[in-house]
Amino acid sequence: MIRFEQVGKRYPNGHVGLHELSFHVQRGEFLFVTGHSGAGKSTLLRLLLAMERPSSGKLLLAGQDLSRISNAQIPFLRRQIGVVFQNHQLLFDRTVFDNAALPLQILGLNKREIGQRVMTALERVSLKDKALQYPSDLSTGQQQRVGIARAVVHRPALLLADEPTGNLDPRLAAEIMGVFEDINRLGTTVLIASHDLALIARMRHRMLTLQRGRLIGDGEATR
Ligand SMILES: Nc1ncnc2c1ncn2[C@@H]1O[C@H](COP(=O)(O)OP(=O)(O)OP(=O)(O)O)[C@@H](O)[C@H]1O
Ligand SMILES: [Mg+2]
Repeated sequence: MIRFEQVGKRYPNGHVGLHELSFHVQRGEFLFVTGHSGAGKSTLLRLLLAMERPSSGKLLLAGQDLSRISNAQIPFLRRQIGVVFQNHQLLFDRTVFDNAALPLQILGLNKREIGQRVMTALERVSLKDKALQYPSDLSTGQQQRVGIARAVVHRPALLLADEPTGNLDPRLAAEIMGVFEDINRLGTTVLIASHDLALIARMRHRMLTLQRGRLIGDGEATR
């Protein structure tokens, strides 16, 4: 699914965000990327989204070479990916349903198809009964779950999340991680950037550890 081969990222100001990073991710895996602030976690995710280009090396996603992808191909690439942010970035003047429907409206699907897929996505995050409410009526954890529903509504092969539990208390954070595990069980590859080591250690998934842009660990998280 993902293949980093000696990928380097040097920002225009000369700062090196990633140094010769190499690792592979199989389809269907669940893994964390961890490391201190500035280690390069978000840089790694932005490379996968083609928001940034590698400065060196080769980066493959589902067989597509992201080091050489044209701008015209980027929208097609992103249809294979769902993204969850720390601040879920919901639209507060739209219902839960409409928030989750956004990616499908952009794809131009018909109303019936959108209705079915949105309700399936909301069911996956246990929010079917909140479809017609507004984000302001929901708890923080529920809002984050709407963000996850929106990220998976177009059935991406890969789900990326950047500090998705950063604003949540430990109990809610564990609950949200459980939602990611449920989605992974249905076949989606899940990659989560997080520095919540205590939570990650309990989950026993693969963990890549970055330190100042270098990969210094790759294995099951342990305490
Ligand atoms: N656009 C940019 N221009 C220059 N340097 C950048 C840019 N974006 C990130 N960096 C630098 O690259 C390094 C990695 O940043 P990145 O955002 O990937 O870290 P991170 O691991 O996500 O940190 P955090 O936990 O704080 O989110 C940092 O030193 C950062 O200052
Ligand atoms: Mg970051």
